[in-house]
Amino acid sequence: VKNYDTCWKQSSSCLHRECTPPPPKPILNFYQTLTSILNDLCYAFGLRFASAVDCEVSLPQHASPKCAAIRNDTLNKLKETYTMKPSQYSFVLLNMTISELGAVALKDPFISYYVRAYVGMTQTNNQILAKYNNATAGQDITGLSDYLEMSEFFQTVLEPVLGEYVRSASRHEAFIDDKTQWISDKFFAQQRLAGNNPLTIRRVTMKGCAAKTIQGACCRFPFKYRGKVYRQCTRVGSHRPWCFTAAKKWGKRRKWGYCAEQEPEISGLDFGILKKTMNLDFDWDGAVRAALGTGGSLEDAIKQGRIYALRYELCDDLGRAPDLTERDPQREMWNFLSPIAFFASKTVRGKRNEFVPVAIQMDHPPDSAVYTPADGDNWLLAKLNVQITDIGYAQITEHLAKIHFFVEPFCVSLKRTLPPMHPLNQMLKYHCREVTIPNTFGTPVLLGDTGFAALLFAYGKEGALKLVRDVHPLTSWEITDYRENIKKRGMFDRNLLPYYPFRDDGLVILKVIEDLVRSYIDLYYRSDQNVKEDVELQAYLNEVSLDGTGPNGGIGQIKGLPPSVDSKRELCEILSRFISHLTIYHASVNYVTTDYPEYIPNQPTKLYNDSRVEDGQFSFLRLPNRAASAIQSTAFNSLGSFRFDSLFDYGNELDDTKAANLVNAYYCRLMDKVQPYLQARNRLREKNGYLAYPYFIPKWLPNGIQT
Ligand SMILES: [Fe+2]
Repeated sequence: VKNYDTCWKQSSSCLHRECTPPPPKPILNFYQTLTSILNDLCYAFGLRFASAVDCEVSLPQHASPKCAAIRNDTLNKLKETYTMKPSQYSFVLLNMTISELGAVALKDPFISYYVRAYVGMTQTNNQILAKYNNATAGQDITGLSDYLEMSEFFQTVLEPVLGEYVRSASRHEAFIDDKTQWISDKFFAQQRLAGNNPLTIRRVTMKGCAAKTIQGACCRFPFKYRGKVYRQCTRVGSHRPWCFTAAKKWGKRRKWGYCAEQEPEISGLDFGILKKTMNLDFDWDGAVRAALGTGGSLEDAIKQGRIYALRYELCDDLGRAPDLTERDPQREMWNFLSPIAFFASKTVRGKRNEFVPVAIQMDHPPDSAVYTPADGDNWLLAKLNVQITDIGYAQITEHLAKIHFFVEPFCVSLKRTLPPMHPLNQMLKYHCREVTIPNTFGTPVLLGDTGFAALLFAYGKEGALKLVRDVHPLTSWEITDYRENIKKRGMFDRNLLPYYPFRDDGLVILKVIEDLVRSYIDLYYRSDQNVKEDVELQAYLNEVSLDGTGPNGGIGQIKGLPPSVDSKRELCEILSRFISHLTIYHASVNYVTTDYPEYIPNQPTKLYNDSRVEDGQFSFLRLPNRAASAIQSTAFNSLGSFRFDSLFDYGNELDDTKAANLVNAYYCRLMDKVQPYLQARNRLREKNGYLAYPYFIPKWLPNGIQT
């Protein structure tokens, strides 16, 4: 199976070029030329003797009549094999059982390597877990160090057994690997920006702030200056746009600031709505002053854009399922709560702003307790409560539903509407390989009666199913817009948030994806007219989009996706968004799991009241027992360490030499330029005491969804 492993082992230079140079374009010999002519003659007489191999990669409108017929025949067969329908999870998924998909996948050389590796990994994982359970049977956890040993064991045991395709990026890159420090206030805050879920944190916003200064203060419109009224930032009297930020006060110099670059609309987290769930008996102003080390109120800090929060609306009242992993009557599992956690961007003299925790409300009802960093063990329990909800929410909604399930119709329709010789199939099949395997094979392991959700999370199987179904109506094509996602959450401002690796490293990769996609489209589409006339592409979008019409139109049910495309620019955006969703967006919630939730004292999946521990006190006895922790550790470790390719490494596999050369060039750009750049960034992060973010380093970033 090609050279994935060989290539991967060499990391110092452009691997692909060294490993397997692009194949020369085949020159037809006399026999092949004769066969080709015979095939054409046969076709002309109605005998379909030719095979797909004889057809070049091309748009359908540029295919010969013979190849056009072959394309149709191929698609008709694939349409019979690959069908899809709305699933019990509300999302449209492949309509095949595990055994049906297994049989098809193992026959297909393009997928079978991966299927064998995936199944082998899960089986080995189960065997290792069974051995661990046997070896530790009857041994209760005696302290936090036992969890550390367990984490080290599961992180190191798989790689020697399974080889190169099961590796944790953090063990091979710059990384702060003192796990006992991760739950400290500093790293607890940083995990919102570089941890297992960088997608939920939002800026708290107040209506009426039409523009902001670079310090984050709201402009006060309208204002009067030199006799004229201004309703937006002005350059009058200055080389840069500016505005007043406070009303005029007699005898005092009026406050003003330079306006920040025009920021798009931030939906953020509306304070008016958030306030309804907040415990108003708590001294929020005092907590903000303590966190920021300045005067002022919570509202002042919100107006300056400094306040950020985690709010898990879908987790409200998920409740508690039976505890399947604990039989000790001294121990009672906590409910799965919906905490609200507040953070702030703190100005530090002479340095960049720091992201600091402010307070945590334990649950969403307004009478819930609120704790701050001054609250000792209760504060630690509050942080763990957030960690539990964050992993329980993110893995089901952001990861499983909004990525795995969401992309499945795109990848199934790819087989049904774009034949193998279509240039977009040539490329996208590497990004779609093989989304349906973890979805079909892995979802029962996650959501079954004794699956990971039932075993690990207090919300149980039913809670997980509810989360998936509840997030479905909120899931549309809009979620694939990486930049807008960051902007709308109010996370783009580099003055207020200088450290946000998901944003900073992700945008570097996104740019490479966009550049490659644009160049790739230029190879095949000379004009917008070419795009409009590509009936196979139009059929693809028509089938996936909810707004599609006619036979098979709309069966993918993807809301907001255009059912047709008219221009190269539009096509470039669609493809770039799709590939970024399968790569960086997925990696941000998949490959991080091998670290933060793999170590139980940093991110458990449940907490306990234990009769041996006093109220408000933390003890290791609050954490899940050894058996439950081992399941958590092994599950997250295998999830976050399995990959069998890296972004754009497939150039040599492409049938078209010019496409192969192009993709190889971008692969080299990733390996030669981007990789050292991101590695240097991470070394600097580590040196300066920040969590590194190795998950987007190209060699650790696969082409698609593999677990
Ligand atoms: Fe995944």
